[in-house]
Amino acid sequence: EDPKADPFEIARQAADVIADRTGVAQHDIALTLGSGWSKAAELMGDEVAVIPATEVPGFSKPALEGHVGTIRSIRLPNGKHALVIGARTHYYEGHGVRRVVHSVRTAAAAGAKVMVLTNGAGGVRPEWGPGTPVLISDHINLTADSPLEGATFIDLTDLYSERLREIAREVRPGMDEGVYVQFRGPHYETPAEVRMARAMGGDIVGMSTALEAIAARQAGMEVLGCSLITNPAAGVTGQPLSHEEVIEEGKKAEGELARFIADVVVKIS
Ligand code: 6GU
Repeated sequence: EDPKADPFEIARQAADVIADRTGVAQHDIALTLGSGWSKAAELMGDEVAVIPATEVPGFSKPALEGHVGTIRSIRLPNGKHALVIGARTHYYEGHGVRRVVHSVRTAAAAGAKVMVLTNGAGGVRPEWGPGTPVLISDHINLTADSPLEGATFIDLTDLYSERLREIAREVRPGMDEGVYVQFRGPHYETPAEVRMARAMGGDIVGMSTALEAIAARQAGMEVLGCSLITNPAAGVTGQPLSHEEVIEEGKKAEGELARFIADVVVKIS
């Protein structure tokens, strides 16, 4: 990748391809669907188009099975359009932070004013069993990286919009909230690191979302973050973690989460 290439220009090109292929000039809301959340698009409205992510500038092949590599355009019941991105690049893949936030910048270039970021993550609180959906109230970015380059001093107060969280709680009353801690991964944390996350004020541990949320704020979008707790983090219950179980729990929760996120999207727009 050319370090001199302007990432916003590549996002512009990606948005042009999406507008071309979907016939939709402006998408109003965008979603990145992480593990456990991938069925949401089907319930939100009518599918206008599905584009393999590899056919859109700046997107790479998904590194993992269970991370669907498609970009979908959905027409919502009120006639607005949602862009559903099922092609997340994780920081741990090592392609750099520009690639990680490319989908967010593409969504912004496509016109989206709201970015919904979802993920499967580990729970730091013992009362959150596998299958618990949690709203992200704030984050701690432990990647030691940023999507911003140069002297771009942006405010991250209320990064995870209170307004959007209220809408989510109207759909799911009493829904839990917590602080998301983004680790670099791809290994899961040690029990000591999970205790550190808890001592810092963290409730959820994962490997995505925080860097994407920062890029969304830079682009002037409103952010909603939702985690599915797929497993207790290391040391919380003493059970060892397995990637297969993480994927499995995500699959089990898919139907319920799809209904929730579809209702939230329709209510937001
Ligand atoms: Cl325990 N940690 C991280 N970083 N990501 C996860 C996870 C844990 N469980 C699912 N995804």
